[in-house]
Amino acid sequence: MISHAVLTPCLPYDDPDAALRWLERAFGLVHAGPGDGPALVTAGGIRVAVEARRPGTPHVAVRLLVTTDDVDEPHRRAVAAGAPVVDGPDDAGTFTVADPGGHLWTFTRPAGPPAPDVAPPTDDAPPAPAGALPAVLDGDASPQERLGRLTDLAAPFAVRVAATLRLADLIESGVRGLDALAGRAGADPDALGRLLRYLAHRGLFTEPAPDEFALTETGRLLRESGPAGQRSFLDLEELGARMDLAYIGLLHAVRTGEPGYAAVHDRSLWADLDAVPHYRRFFDNLMMSQNHLTAPQVAALYDWSGVGRVVDVGGGSGALLAELLRTHGHLRGTLVDRPDPAGTTARRLADQGLAERAEVVPGDFFAPLPTGGDVYVVARAITDWNDRDATAILRRCAEATGDGGRVLIVEVLPTEPHVPHLSPFDLQMLAVVGGRERTLADFEALVAAAGLAVTRVLHGRGGLALIECAAVAGPAADPVTDAGSAAADGTGAAPTLTPAG
Ligand SMILES: C[S@@+](CC[C@H](N)C(=O)[O-])C[C@H]1O[C@@H](n2cnc3c(N)ncnc32)[C@H](O)[C@@H]1O
Repeated sequence: MISHAVLTPCLPYDDPDAALRWLERAFGLVHAGPGDGPALVTAGGIRVAVEARRPGTPHVAVRLLVTTDDVDEPHRRAVAAGAPVVDGPDDAGTFTVADPGGHLWTFTRPAGPPAPDVAPPTDDAPPAPAGALPAVLDGDASPQERLGRLTDLAAPFAVRVAATLRLADLIESGVRGLDALAGRAGADPDALGRLLRYLAHRGLFTEPAPDEFALTETGRLLRESGPAGQRSFLDLEELGARMDLAYIGLLHAVRTGEPGYAAVHDRSLWADLDAVPHYRRFFDNLMMSQNHLTAPQVAALYDWSGVGRVVDVGGGSGALLAELLRTHGHLRGTLVDRPDPAGTTARRLADQGLAERAEVVPGDFFAPLPTGGDVYVVARAITDWNDRDATAILRRCAEATGDGGRVLIVEVLPTEPHVPHLSPFDLQMLAVVGGRERTLADFEALVAAAGLAVTRVLHGRGGLALIECAAVAGPAADPVTDAGSAAADGTGAAPTLTPAG
């Protein structure tokens, strides 16, 4: 099937065994058999080597150009294997898919045009290194159209205004005329009509009769009862849209590496949550809905039988701790979080009848943590921070565990096949909190920098990973310096185990 390939010495993958299985399924590349060094896989004229990416080494993605008379068959096969199609197929059948290591494979006919934006490599020009990866392109759009679509701000804001004014719920309830809609939404009829017609052109509404509006399938997603809660997330008066607006601070974030949020809203996300109760409620609800999926898995996957006390570091709403205590009756728990959420969480745990076994300590995870826990859980908090701060938090956990204790990092990792930077998640973390997306190998590097070693990794559904770590014997890790943390605002004194009121 494949007549010619540009060879690449080695393709690094975080999980080479999974990559070998994937390459066989998607491209029919067969492992040439065990031997020393990287595994060789071949099919037709393709011959590439697969190796493990060493923890801590930078991610390097490679692009390959495969010429073949039959581009349809590899396309069918790659799509059936679930490979994300990054580009194409175009009129000539040329298409590009991403593999689990983020390497891009462009399939094209020998006489066909080169892959978009990809100069065909020659024998003396190796494939382009990472950093020159093609963008997610827009089918047949011209460059001008493509740039226009990438930069348009009207649609993102028009949809958010429609969500904020609850137009979908009003229309669904039978309010369809423009004047009536404007009256109920508190809007100017002329301006509202212009907004609705603009969005009608984009598939959210229809105008079946002059000044009468109806919902499309997409428009129905903006109802309060929409399945994924998009309406409240898009509401410009709520926290979700406020977090999205942190992108206005992306220039600041890219220049400084610091979050864009404070540059736009004058205080960090965490301070904002402390200051505005309905932002806190929104955030807690968001965390609780995510814990709905993850907390039962954490309770079931990890062996809690030998654990007396669990310390939930940055435990937020308390949803995870509550699930652990409900599922494992012998367990006692301490939750550490900033003073404002700590108070609310203490009341929430008491309302669930867990006050006897759960204590909530207002504190700062950049300062010394309560000692005496058997397992220190840090759930979905590390992703919020840059490497320096994330390491500092893990060091505080390592200090508090002492000998024999464990640190359990709970995170939702990118699901395979993962193409780094294809989704906006990493940029969103940078803009909102100054954090970043990390792979398992990235977490292993952080853990090592904090004086810990990964003892095992448990995988759950939807990318959930439980990374268990223990302190390594030998020289102590560098002491944590509060001055080294952009986020530390604690006193540095070890907190007492006094329940918050
Ligand atoms: C993304 S939330 C995760 C909450 C919880 N672990 C969960 O899985 O639902 C991050 C948490 O870190 C907390 N946090 C932020 N800065 C903190 C600090 N300096 N000390 C302690 N907690 C902090 C926030 O209040 C928030 O509850």
